Amino acid sequence: MFNFNLLAAVTVAVAVQGTLGVAVYGQCGGKGYTGSTVCDSGSVCTFSNDYYSQCLPGSGGTTAPATTGSPTTTASPSTGTSLNSKFQSHGKKFWGAAMDPGTLSIAASTTILKREFGGVSPENSMKWDATESTRGKFTFSTADQLVSFAQQNNMFVRGHTLLWHNQLPNWVSSIGDRTTLTSVIQTHASTVAGHFKGKIYAWDVVNEMFNDDSTGSVRTSVFSKLMGTDFVAVAFQAAKSADPAAIRYINDYNLEYSAAKRNSLIALVNKVNAANPGLIQGIGTQSHLSAGGGSSVKAALTAMAAAGVDVAITELDIRGASSNDYVTVVKACLSEPKCVSITTWGLSDKNSWIQGVSGGVLLWDDQYKPKAAYSAVMAAL
Ligand code: G3I
Repeated sequence: MFNFNLLAAVTVAVAVQGTLGVAVYGQCGGKGYTGSTVCDSGSVCTFSNDYYSQCLPGSGGTTAPATTGSPTTTASPSTGTSLNSKFQSHGKKFWGAAMDPGTLSIAASTTILKREFGGVSPENSMKWDATESTRGKFTFSTADQLVSFAQQNNMFVRGHTLLWHNQLPNWVSSIGDRTTLTSVIQTHASTVAGHFKGKIYAWDVVNEMFNDDSTGSVRTSVFSKLMGTDFVAVAFQAAKSADPAAIRYINDYNLEYSAAKRNSLIALVNKVNAANPGLIQGIGTQSHLSAGGGSSVKAALTAMAAAGVDVAITELDIRGASSNDYVTVVKACLSEPKCVSITTWGLSDKNSWIQGVSGGVLLWDDQYKPKAAYSAVMAAL
C-alpha cells in the first residue's frame, strides 16, 4: 500500500517551510524533517524522539528543537519513519488503533493517528447496541464517520464486532427460541457487514465466546443457550455472504495466559473449518496484558497460527507500558509470518478504557506525548 501518511507528512513539512511558525501539535523537528523548527507563540518545540519533535502547548515562546538525533538534513530511512511504515517494512499489513468519532475529534489524537497509524478499529460504534438497538432499525452514522475518516486517510478498518454477549441489546438477550435467534443473527451480521461492504479489511465476527475456566468452556449467553456453538457458523456465513472480501476473524482475550481457552478456540476453528472450509480465516488475540505479559505472546501466536489461519493482535494494551513488554510483543509478531497486524486499543492513556494504572497502558501518555515504550518500539522496528 502506498504510504499516503508519509506523503501527507512531507507535504505538511514543505508547506510550513518559510512560514513564521508551526501550529500547535505540528511537527518541528526530527530525522528527515526539513520544515520550520519554530513554533507559534503559546507552544514550544518539544523533543519526542529521534524522529519527531512536536509543538506542544506551553510557555517559553518558540525554541529550537531539542533534537538529539541526526541532523535534519539526513535522509529519512527508506523504511519510513512512522510506527506503521516501519512495521510494514517487515512485511506486515498495518499498525492500527481503536478510535471512534469521540477520540477523532481530539486534535492531538488525530494528528498522531494520521502520522503514525495505518488502521483503525471502532472502539464501540459497530457493536450491536450501537448499530441495532431496536430490532430491524439500523444506525450507522457514528461508525460511518470513522470509516469515512479511514478511507480519506488510506487506513485499514478492522470491523468490531458482529456478535458479542456484551453491549448486546435486551431485545436480543431475551429471545427464547433458536429459530428466531438464528434469523436475528443472520439479519444483524449481514446488514452490518453489508452496509460496510468493500470498506472493511477484516471483521471480528464473533467476540469473546469462551470462559477463562480450567476447561475453556463456552460462555453462557443467549447464543450458546439456544444454539450451542452453531451460532458461530451462522454468523460467519452471514458475514461471508454480505462481504466476501472482508477477512473473517474470531477474537478473544487471555489467549496468551490460558492454554485451555486457547485450545478450545483453536479446536472450534478447526471444527468449523472442517465442515465449512475457509469459513474462519483469522484468530484475533486481544492482548490486554498485565505487566510482564509480553513474554507470553510468542507461544500463543505460534499455537494459533498452527490452525492454518491468519493471526492478529487486535486490542493491545499493557499495564505499566514497559518498553520491554511492548518490544517483546512486537518481536513476537515479527517472528510469526502469519501475524498480520497489531492494533493498540487506543492511542493515548488519556482516552484508554483502562485508567489509574501507574505508567499507563499505551504508547502515548495522557498529554499525547510519546512514551519510552514508543521510542523503544521504533528502535526495535
Ligand atoms: O455511550 C454511553 C453514554 O451515552 C453514557 O452516558 C455513558 C455512561 O457511562 O456510557 C456510554 O457508554 C459507554 C461506552 O463504552 C461508550 O463510551 C459504556 O458505559 C462503557 O461500558 C463502554 O465501555 C467500552 C467497553 O468495551 C464495553 O464493554 C469501552 O469503551 C471499550 O474500550 C471496550 O472495548 C472492549 C472490546 O470491545 C472487546 N474486548 C475488551 C475491550 C475492553 O473492555
